[in-house]
Amino acid sequence: MLRKNRVKYYNAFSHVYDQFIAMHSKDLQQKARDFLITTVDPQPGETVIDICTGTGSLLPLYAAKVGDNGRVIGIDFSIGMLKVARNKTRHLKNVSLVLADVAALPVRSGTADAMSCSHAFYELKGETADACLKEVKRVLKNTRSFFMMEHEVPKNRFIRGLYYLRLMSMGSDRMKEILENETGRFKENFEKVQKVVSPTGKSKIIIATKQSES
Ligand SMILES: C[S@@+](CC[C@H](N)C(=O)[O-])C[C@H]1O[C@@H](n2cnc3c(N)ncnc32)[C@H](O)[C@@H]1O
Repeated sequence: MLRKNRVKYYNAFSHVYDQFIAMHSKDLQQKARDFLITTVDPQPGETVIDICTGTGSLLPLYAAKVGDNGRVIGIDFSIGMLKVARNKTRHLKNVSLVLADVAALPVRSGTADAMSCSHAFYELKGETADACLKEVKRVLKNTRSFFMMEHEVPKNRFIRGLYYLRLMSMGSDRMKEILENETGRFKENFEKVQKVVSPTGKSKIIIATKQSES
C-alpha cells in the first residue's frame, strides 16, 4: 500500500480504533500495556517518546510515571489518530503530539530516555523499518533503550491462523523475517538486543539498547 493510502486508511480507522480494540481484546490490551509500562519503567523527570502512538493510549500512563518535570511525546503520521490522542491527553501538560513519519523524526538527537512502539512496527515496510530504527537510535540518549511490543505467536490454533494472516498481509519477505529472524534488523542497528515475553505469554517486547553514539 502506498504511504498516502496508508495514512488515509489509518485516518478512517481512527474513528473506531478504540471501540474496535475494546470489543476484541480490552483486557488483553490492558495487560499488554501494563507489561510495556512495567518493562520501560519510566522515572520522574524523564523524556519518553512513543512512536506510531495511534490513539495515544500509552501516553497518560507514561505521563503519570514521568510526572510534571518529565515529558511524553506521541508521534504518528495519521492526523485522525492524533485527534483521538489529543482528546485523551489535552488535560496533561507534560504530553505533546507530533505529526510525522517514523522514517524522519523531527526530534533532536539524544533527547529520549526511552522510546516505544506498540503493535505497529511489523506493519512498517522493510525500508521504513530500517530508517525508523536509525532515527530511534539517533533520538535516544546513549545507554537508553527502544521497546518494541508485539503479539507473541499464539498457542491457540485458530488465533495462530489469524496471526499468520496478519503477517501475510505484510508481504512474504517481512513475514519470513518476523518468523525466522525477528531480532536481526534490530541487531544490525543496536549493540544490545534482548527479547522478553509477558507473564501471559501473549505479548513480547524486543529491547534494543544504544551503547555508542555512532
Ligand atoms: C495498529 S496502530 C497501533 C497504535 C498504537 N501504538 C496502539 O498500540 O494502539 C498503528 C499506528 O501506526 C501508525 N503508523 C503506521 N506507519 C507509520 C509511519 N510510517 N509513521 C508514523 N506512524 C505510522 C498508524 O497511523 C497507526 O496509528
